[in-house]
Amino acid sequence: MSIDSDRDAETTKGGFVHDDISEILLDENTIAARVRELAKELAVHLADSLASDEPIVLVPIMTGSLVFTADLIRHLPNKMRIGVVTVSSYSGATTERRETALRSALPQNLEGRHVVIVDDIFDTGHTMALLDREARNAGASGVTSVVLLSKPARHEVEIRPDFSGFEIPDAFVVGYGLDYDGHYRNLPCIGILRPEAIR
Ligand code: IMP
Ligand code: MG
Repeated sequence: MSIDSDRDAETTKGGFVHDDISEILLDENTIAARVRELAKELAVHLADSLASDEPIVLVPIMTGSLVFTADLIRHLPNKMRIGVVTVSSYSGATTERRETALRSALPQNLEGRHVVIVDDIFDTGHTMALLDREARNAGASGVTSVVLLSKPARHEVEIRPDFSGFEIPDAFVVGYGLDYDGHYRNLPCIGILRPEAIR
């Protein structure tokens, strides 16, 4: 593992890049600017909760949305509780289709609350569809989904994210919370992983 500090200035404007990244898709400043915009759009959408001082419940899906959530909430004026969830996703033994399941309980007392689900990426969409369904079943008065990235070429479900930062091509990306085998989450930018780095 080595860090390429020579590329700093042009590519990530102060951040660092890893040798296993073949292309930077979104640099640190581009992400920061879009996250601020997204928060503004979301705040407009949640204006009623703000006006009535009703707390919203933010449900970040771990671990991928850790960095995105940390940045997003610092631009959101709403009163909120945060309850993270973990979702497991695995290929079925006999089918191509991936199975998605909650690995931790949703936060308590969602009855009558506006729930905002936050994820790093809407890929096939099965993860978000599961959380959307669970939050509604738990009695949420409204459910809003927010993702940083979306891969339209891969969507397999009927729902779409209510708020999406960037639409990206069908490539495997890492950084800014997104991982490959648990690594690269700490990269400040989002980049495409070299095929040689995928084992
Ligand atoms: P979905 O259920 O197919 O929408 O998958 C969403 C989850 O898959 C995300 O929360 C990510 O953890 C993971 N994922 C999908 N695409 C990528 C990627 O390009 N890089 C890293 N993780 C990804
Ligand atoms: Mg994830």
